[in-house]
Amino acid sequence: MAKTKVAVLISGRGSNLQSLLDAAAAPDFPAEITLVVSNRPEAAGLERARKAGVATGVIDHRQYGKGEEGRAAFDAALDKTLRDAGAELVCLAGFMRLLTPGFVEGWRGRMLNIHPSLLPSFKGLDVHRRMIEAGVKIAGCTVHFVSSEMDAGPIVGQAAVPVLPGDNPDTLAARILTEEHKLYPACLALVASGEASLGAGGVVTLDKAAASAASLRNPA
Ligand code: GRF
Repeated sequence: MAKTKVAVLISGRGSNLQSLLDAAAAPDFPAEITLVVSNRPEAAGLERARKAGVATGVIDHRQYGKGEEGRAAFDAALDKTLRDAGAELVCLAGFMRLLTPGFVEGWRGRMLNIHPSLLPSFKGLDVHRRMIEAGVKIAGCTVHFVSSEMDAGPIVGQAAVPVLPGDNPDTLAARILTEEHKLYPACLALVASGEASLGAGGVVTLDKAAASAASLRNPA
């Protein structure tokens, strides 16, 4: 069966991109990464894509005006790049830009994001510090469909990790990141194969096998 063509959007380090590239190298993985786009020319993840032989693009947000008009122009350029490349799914992987509602609507049910918390708790930035300060005992990560509200779209899968005594934001982030690298490829595979999809009511439907692939628990 033809593999689903996936574009990955990044802004920085690209470790999640790497996990997707590595997973997609397996012959039976249902998706192929055909394009990596960064809004920052210096993003280290671009080199990971080049090493894997994947086409890259840079759409530097600083070249677009500020305010609503600049944002719309940036998103229009991004949308054209993705469509010209024949992308069928888009994965945000550390992509640090808010996307306009029009762009999000155009990719409804076909755009995923990964976030380092168990959503809907701890949306936004600086989540590891905030989780430690809140004293949570279970942290984790979430892969979700992107909706126009940040970090609020329908959840595809989650992985849980413990918060351990003595954790600081860096140690917790590292423990969560290890799980991100398993969860994102697992969830991409579910969506690319059609085992998980965005239903009409805005809820993700999974069969039993898919549900277990999308729910990872990691004891201390
Ligand atoms: C990850 O923690 C991801 O959950 C968040 O941004 C970080 C990106 O890291 N959205 P990387 O660039 O994939 O290494």
